[in-house]
Amino acid sequence: MKALILAGGLGTRLRPLTFSMPKPVIPLLGRPLVRHLIDPLPEEVDTVILAVSYMKDYLERYFRENDIGREVVLVNEEEPLGTGGAIKNVARWLDDTFFAFNGDIISSLDLSAMLESHRSHHGIGTIALWSVDDPSAFGVVATDGSGRVTTFQEKPAPGEEVSNRINAGAYIFEPELLDRIPDGVVSLERDVFPNVLDRGLYGYAFQGYWVDAGTRESFLRAQRTLLDVGGGRVACAVRRLSGVRISGNNMIEAAHVEPSAIGPNVYIERGAQVHDGATISNSMVMAGAVIGRGATISNSIIGPGMVVEDGAVIADVILA
Ligand code: GDD
Ligand code: MG
Repeated sequence: MKALILAGGLGTRLRPLTFSMPKPVIPLLGRPLVRHLIDPLPEEVDTVILAVSYMKDYLERYFRENDIGREVVLVNEEEPLGTGGAIKNVARWLDDTFFAFNGDIISSLDLSAMLESHRSHHGIGTIALWSVDDPSAFGVVATDGSGRVTTFQEKPAPGEEVSNRINAGAYIFEPELLDRIPDGVVSLERDVFPNVLDRGLYGYAFQGYWVDAGTRESFLRAQRTLLDVGGGRVACAVRRLSGVRISGNNMIEAAHVEPSAIGPNVYIERGAQVHDGATISNSMVMAGAVIGRGATISNSIIGPGMVVEDGAVIADVILA
């Protein structure tokens, strides 16, 4: 079985970090974002197709240098074709029921159970559904008593949402869907879903956790979620952490951490340095970054090699 990952977006909401690396390879607790999608795929998935466009060379290099234990096919779009156009563009690979994912989601979704549900309905597709308080930033889905989707609204204006169930960005489709996608730049959510409801599109609601890691806030939320479900352990690979005050769950891979205050929800990548008296909370510090003496970092992503001066106060930003 094949799994298609939509990984061609520009990652605009994670700029400026995504000027130098595409969103799918941003390290989430030491693993590229997209590996959190690929690694838990059911065993029957033998081929992963990535629909790429933005910074495709970076992704090519990553998959050349890292064996993920499945066949990987990268299909390039000269110009981004939109989420629907990207699926149509890889149609030649898809001759059977397939998984498809937005490349930036982190979830506890049980894909085998979802597949079973999909097969029982004999529809053209199944959409994973997640419940949120404010659905307006997402695709909003209404279903009938049998789970069949009756309305799909992409990012409706606040107040117009038909439910609080959102499209979680994980799908199972029949190849028949490919015939319902026109050529060119096409949005799966706006141009295709509303037009295939007659054929039977089903919702699959799940619980546990789900995060779209596409913004600074939600990326850090995904990090927190994974640290918390990881059983509350402090993963620490540093040789010497004496004098470091740790609170909450964190993952620290850096080799050089002087007495400082770290946590909760901090990931410090290998090769970063944290100097005396620094305070870091709800943040990611990437490889080669240097956090100066007495600096304070909160709710931020400090990109690779960035230097935060002694005593600086950095809050709510992406530095890259
Ligand atoms: N290949 C390719 N080409 N991929 C694309 C393109 C494109 O032109 N445009 C977007 N993508 C990829 C992005 O890289 C991302 O992985 C995925 O498609 C979704 O795009 P986002 O830009 O992250 O969309 P969103 O988060 O605003 O909304 C989508 O996700 C929500 C859940 O996370 C929609 O699917 C919503 O309906 C959904 O609720
Ligand atoms: Mg997204």
